Amino acid sequence: MGLKWRGRSFSLRRRQRFLRGSFLEHPVDATPMSTRRLILRPHRLRHADAEAWHHIVNQPDVRTALNWPARDRAASRRHLEHRTRHTRLWQADDFLALAIELDGELIGDVSLHVRSIEGSNRSAEIGWLLDRRNMGCGYATEAASAMLALAFDVLQAQWVTAIVRRGNPRSAALAKRLGFTPVAADGQHDAFLMGNLVWRERGAEVRTSYGIDVGVSDEHAVGSAAAPLGRLTR
Ligand SMILES: CC(C)(COP(=O)(O)OP(=O)(O)OC[C@H]1O[C@@H](n2cnc3c(N)ncnc32)[C@H](O)[C@@H]1OP(=O)(O)O)[C@@H](O)C(=O)NCCC(=O)NCCS
Repeated sequence: MGLKWRGRSFSLRRRQRFLRGSFLEHPVDATPMSTRRLILRPHRLRHADAEAWHHIVNQPDVRTALNWPARDRAASRRHLEHRTRHTRLWQADDFLALAIELDGELIGDVSLHVRSIEGSNRSAEIGWLLDRRNMGCGYATEAASAMLALAFDVLQAQWVTAIVRRGNPRSAALAKRLGFTPVAADGQHDAFLMGNLVWRERGAEVRTSYGIDVGVSDEHAVGSAAAPLGRLTR
């Protein structure tokens, strides 16, 4: 949904940049990250990915969990095309979506949505989904762990949330397996939280066990003296 004014398109779903406050001095851009078994990289519109995405977004469990409509090929392609543009975290409300690739094939998506960029409140919400044929092998755990490394070690989030719709035991189990704590419930959703103190304790081990490389050395990772919170500009 959007409108055009003076030749420019404006989305009505997201607040415009000028309403979203401070910017990170150095934006976090999506560069491909690797783990032991997976590549996480920006989405692409190549034919094989469009086919895989069409299959994934129409899975009943994905549609129920995310309240997504059924999409025909044209709609799922537009949806994927939209995701290819979400590659930068710079300001509150920015959304980063990465393709989860296994042996050259798109098998899922892991995302990070910045809720606040202000230093002591810097926070983001993580999301995940997998092709049903690849569930049960730990791929979501591995991909989400890499996204947490990006959130805590690169974006320097103070906390990360995961919002899980009731009746989605696989997603709730994933949140707990990753080290999230359930903190709130509204009857329809459960909210899970991980703070940077938890990541400080677990991060190094998680990065090592999943072979995660987000380009940050241990001495610059979250909590170290060499990692002051990223500066903001207005
Ligand atoms: C939520 C979702 C991503 C979880 O997928 P998943 O396959 O259960 O999670 P993982 O890929 O981490 O796999 C975990 C399973 O692999 C096993 N496993 C094997 N090797 C593993 C490893 N190295 N590390 C972790 N788990 C491993 C685990 O024991 C677990 O087994 P279980 O299913 O028998 O309990 C998936 O169910 C999904 O896409 N659902 C639909 C979309 C959705 O709900 N999104 C969330 C919206 S809030």
